[in-house]
Amino acid sequence: MRKPVVLITGAGGEIGHGLVTRLAGSGPPIITLDVTPLDRSLAPLVAREFIGSITDISLLDRVLAEFEVERVFHLAALLSARAEFTPVTAHHVNVEGTLNLLEFAQRQGESHGRPVLFIYPSSIAAYGLPDLETKMRAGAVTEDQYAHPTTMYGCNKLYCEQLGHYYAKHYKQLSADAIARVDFRSVRFPGLISAITVPSGGTSDYAPEMIHAAAKGERYDCFVRPDTTIPYMTMPDGVDALLALADAARDRLTQSAYNLTAFNPSAAEIRDVVVGAFSSAAIGYRVDPKRQGIVDSWPAAVDDSAARRDWGFAPKCDFERAFREYLIPTIRQRYHR
Ligand code: SER
Repeated sequence: MRKPVVLITGAGGEIGHGLVTRLAGSGPPIITLDVTPLDRSLAPLVAREFIGSITDISLLDRVLAEFEVERVFHLAALLSARAEFTPVTAHHVNVEGTLNLLEFAQRQGESHGRPVLFIYPSSIAAYGLPDLETKMRAGAVTEDQYAHPTTMYGCNKLYCEQLGHYYAKHYKQLSADAIARVDFRSVRFPGLISAITVPSGGTSDYAPEMIHAAAKGERYDCFVRPDTTIPYMTMPDGVDALLALADAARDRLTQSAYNLTAFNPSAAEIRDVVVGAFSSAAIGYRVDPKRQGIVDSWPAAVDDSAARRDWGFAPKCDFERAFREYLIPTIRQRYHR
């Protein structure tokens, strides 16, 4: 008998870290797939750790043979900044890897006779506004506006939202005996800020990097201008959102990708709060025009009303509370231990 489990890809990453910690001990056992071994705090929380790539179909076949996967949280990806150095590799991992996982979910669903829930974090990078003036004028953008990404990562995310929709609704639509067995749901995350982990390879990383550097007493040069603004949310709110979307009633969902946001401070506003909280903070600006260009193409605000309406998205932390109740106390404890 195969065992019913939840599969988390990219489990060792930032979101994975939060999700594994949150899911452990409640509900079905967790199995993970990541290119590197999980760190010591996570490994004991999972029932089985597969080490390898989502591009390795034989590895996915092994998982399929051994486990009955009911839910997939497909988090593995190369983030936006890293992907610009190796776009073909990024496409291979982000697109072909996702295709492999969708096929895997379809096979799983066929073998248990009911849909496999497939949760996919898309991104604010799926947007591409043509210039700063348009960004300033646009206000809170809806899912269908300005979906013209400028990065490989953004293209990958936008396309995989569509691919997921295909697997959920139109899979082999001309074949008489095929049934779609993937219940695909995705969110477009804003920048995520964790007090526990530090991101790598993203373009929204200036916010978390600034906070963690200040807490460690290290100098930090922010790579975007002070006025740069994009939406953010805390990692615990991000993880809660994935779980709320996973638990939502299927018939309430009116779209396959949902915007999310909690607050949208400028880089200068983040700097001000961080300097207020950590007396030794030394934060300057050294603008990297290329990464600045990417962040300038992302909206300053997104409209998350569909997520609020369809599945009750309601982040706990606004900007003030994120720092006061989550980031500052948790980060202090982390670096002073
Ligand atoms: N935080 C991500 C990045 O910067 C966006 O999804 O790449």
